[in-house]
Amino acid sequence: NVSVTGNSHAKIILIGEHSVVYHQPAIALPLPAVQVHAEMTANLDSKQILTSRYYSGDRQDAPIQLQGINRLIDALLAHLAQPDAGFTLTIKSDLPAERGMGSSAATAVAIVRAMYRFFNVPLSHERLLKEVAVSEKIIHGHPSGLDAATASAETPVWFIKGETPQPLPFHLNGYLVIADSGIHGQTGIAVANVAAYRKAHPKQANQAIHHLGELAQQAKVALAQNQVTHLGTILTAAQRDLKQLGVSHPVLDQMMTVARQNGALGAKLTGGGMGGCMISLAATQADAIRIQQALSGAGFKQTWLQPFLSEETV
Ligand code: MEV
Repeated sequence: NVSVTGNSHAKIILIGEHSVVYHQPAIALPLPAVQVHAEMTANLDSKQILTSRYYSGDRQDAPIQLQGINRLIDALLAHLAQPDAGFTLTIKSDLPAERGMGSSAATAVAIVRAMYRFFNVPLSHERLLKEVAVSEKIIHGHPSGLDAATASAETPVWFIKGETPQPLPFHLNGYLVIADSGIHGQTGIAVANVAAYRKAHPKQANQAIHHLGELAQQAKVALAQNQVTHLGTILTAAQRDLKQLGVSHPVLDQMMTVARQNGALGAKLTGGGMGGCMISLAATQADAIRIQQALSGAGFKQTWLQPFLSEETV
């Protein structure tokens, strides 16, 4: 093939970040409005060129931020028996990096899809997740696999580490307002901080982690039974546990206050935390828009509005 594209999208963790690392369940939603595209074009000079918002040039000279991607490409070329192929790989992403939206996993999913397509090799979902795990390990240490599973899913997923992700049918009338704090939060560091806290305070940490698992179970029921107010309470309770684990941030706390003062039923951080994004739940579109405007007025201009999908569309 001369030129092919692989696509992927952002994800939002509704509940279960961090506790998922310790085998508690998590629920994550695809965010199809926020896309990543990886375009592979044949390069007749046998060069391997990488182009992204960070860099454009020979991939061997790429900066450290692209190390994960480079190792992924090495692994892919080896698996596809094409180590010396010439190509230009162009990555176009709407996702802000290090904001808990799964930017690295989404980028990796798009690249794997583009590469397999480029070399005309069929790609199973299982194979895709295995390939993505290569770069996720380099970037995040020991990822649960939740980001990769959601970046490649078309429906919300119920996820337990080490198990096959399950599509989660639900029926909920409500809206999520997602807002970017503008602060970079590195997932790898956040995960390491939780591990350190757990070592220093095992009882408190394990209690919070276990409680987050219970809240995920309750959220699953609330989603299935259209209990939007209850879901809001669950999200706020999860935020208390995440704060206890040390992964919130004063700016995130401030954003949640703004959301709640403007009618949000609940709010929490999403993803790795220590910055990144917050999500808040609104019962109606009018509430969601009011929250969005209030956040914007408080200086948080980067927001996304995501209606929950009804069961029919899942
Ligand atoms: C990051 O999006 C989610 C975390 O739970 C880490 C992981 O699942 O690997 C914080």
